[in-house]
Amino acid sequence: MNNVIAGFSKFSKEEKINWIAKEYFLNPQEAITTLKNYWNSDENLQKLHDEFIENTISNFYIPLGVAPNFLINGKYYTVPMAIEESSVVAAASKAAKFWSTRGGFKASVIDTEKIGQVHFIFKGDHSKLADFFNQIKSKFFIETENITKNMQKRGGGILDIILKDKTHLIPNYFQLHATFETIDSMGANFINSCLEQFAKILKEEAQVHESFSETEKDIQVVMSILSNYVPNCIVRAEVSCPINELEEKHISDPTAFAERFVQAVTIAEVEPFRAVTHNKGIMNGIDAVVLATGNDFRAIEAGIHAYASRNGHYSSLSHAKIENNIFTFWLEVPLALGTVGGLTSLHPLVKLSLDMLEKPSAKELMQIVAVAGLAQNFAALRSLTTTGIQDGHMKMHLNNILNQFMATEEERVLIRKHFKHHVVSHSAVVDYIENIRK
Ligand code: MEV
Repeated sequence: MNNVIAGFSKFSKEEKINWIAKEYFLNPQEAITTLKNYWNSDENLQKLHDEFIENTISNFYIPLGVAPNFLINGKYYTVPMAIEESSVVAAASKAAKFWSTRGGFKASVIDTEKIGQVHFIFKGDHSKLADFFNQIKSKFFIETENITKNMQKRGGGILDIILKDKTHLIPNYFQLHATFETIDSMGANFINSCLEQFAKILKEEAQVHESFSETEKDIQVVMSILSNYVPNCIVRAEVSCPINELEEKHISDPTAFAERFVQAVTIAEVEPFRAVTHNKGIMNGIDAVVLATGNDFRAIEAGIHAYASRNGHYSSLSHAKIENNIFTFWLEVPLALGTVGGLTSLHPLVKLSLDMLEKPSAKELMQIVAVAGLAQNFAALRSLTTTGIQDGHMKMHLNNILNQFMATEEERVLIRKHFKHHVVSHSAVVDYIENIRK
């Protein structure tokens, strides 16, 4: 069997499943049943999901949880989080509750500029290209009006277009570097449509530009695409309180806690191995809300990690300080998010998540997402610098193991009682289950 197939995309869903089951499984029927168990019984809903992507054979569930009590800029939110990792939602909820009695989270959008580029090759006189660009620049705005009209009505559109000489990097390489305001949409389609139109204008105008030689007229467009690096689409989230107000169950000495917390953040600022894990904790919160609200978490991830490296080394996205006995903890992240377009009105759970957030604007969603990241980071650092994370984590993990072993209610009571006083590890739990089942 060589597992190669022609014309697979033309198969019906049933045929695709049968082929996979036959090709890869000793028990094809079992595989088919597993796939079909995850189909939605509502045929229309299933069809909707089938059509989100290509070659759909089933649905892949990720739990949708909620973290209540998020006080952000004076307003309470219950934040939807789609994530498969245990402890994340609990940590977010705990941090939200903690800060709700200490002034809540403050968040502000610093800027919302999006970026797109036309990458092209021009062989010729650089100053002639610059003159040509200045002469035709207005055409980029005028001849995209059919695309930009609606966006302009909403207050957005093309902000600026500049010509960038990149020939120090690659011979004859230039860019049209364009900036956009896309208001409540993430704007990928809008930006890419504008860029493709820019590319067309660029090529066509060059062909008839009198002062260009034949070689100069032949501009080669390599590609036109938005950038997911958006260092001017930034949101800031912050918490702060007098140090003595940090006191609670696991924080008996708030000054020592605050100092250790700041130290932990400083380590992540200077030490890339720690920074990556530190930022991963932030992304636990960010991705979960991004996913629940139908945004593109790959774009967000790529953009954020590039931003974390903007000073030449990978560093922490969050920062902390103690000044005049006030503890302040904050982060700044680039977030190009949308609350209209894309999946937002298509996926019923995305729509529900946005409704739960009371239909936020993109700017409001940027603030909520950044806060979720900060809350997650606070929860992780609080655990790491006090009890360690395994204590809480393994309690959650215990539940997953009990589910894996399909423990009965009686067994669960016994096991939970036992592990109140014993260290939870996968093997210890398995041994214990096996023991009580003997
Ligand atoms: C686990 O998903 C995330 C943490 O490792 C983050 C951190 O170390 O800061 C707990």
